[in-house]
Amino acid sequence: MKEELSRNPENWKEKPKKELIDFIISQFHLSFKERLPKLLFFADKVENVHSENEDCPRGLASVLQNLSLFIIDHIKHDEENLFSLLSKERSENADSFIESAKNDYTNIKEQLKSIRHIVNDYKTPAGACGTWTFLYQQLEILEKDIEDYINLEENILFS
Ligand SMILES: [Fe+2]
Repeated sequence: MKEELSRNPENWKEKPKKELIDFIISQFHLSFKERLPKLLFFADKVENVHSENEDCPRGLASVLQNLSLFIIDHIKHDEENLFSLLSKERSENADSFIESAKNDYTNIKEQLKSIRHIVNDYKTPAGACGTWTFLYQQLEILEKDIEDYINLEENILFS
């Protein structure tokens, strides 16, 4: 798949950083900003509708809301500071911004772990409704996308 290929850090090693930045914004930043509120809406719904079910993902909406706010803030920081430095539109040193972004990733990975725990490794219980199943599928895709995103920034963009 073309998209999978272009997410592979190996494909970006020789390319200009500006090109990678444009790719990251269009493939990840915009998509996260669009998907997170929708996932939050579904998480809230599942938690409310199935509150009596022993497999209900209790606390999911709250963790997801924190993750969402955190990622949106991180993206803003990337776009306003780091990316213009890395594409050499500004001459300041990017080191402190890179350090702060890496701390964000540690935090984001911890939050993803909490989510994975709450949703039982994305395994829906037998008889789960369509919304519940869809939510877990989408959360698992989100986790993979965030991993690809962090991998591209840490290993190629920041190097
Ligand atoms: Fe980032």
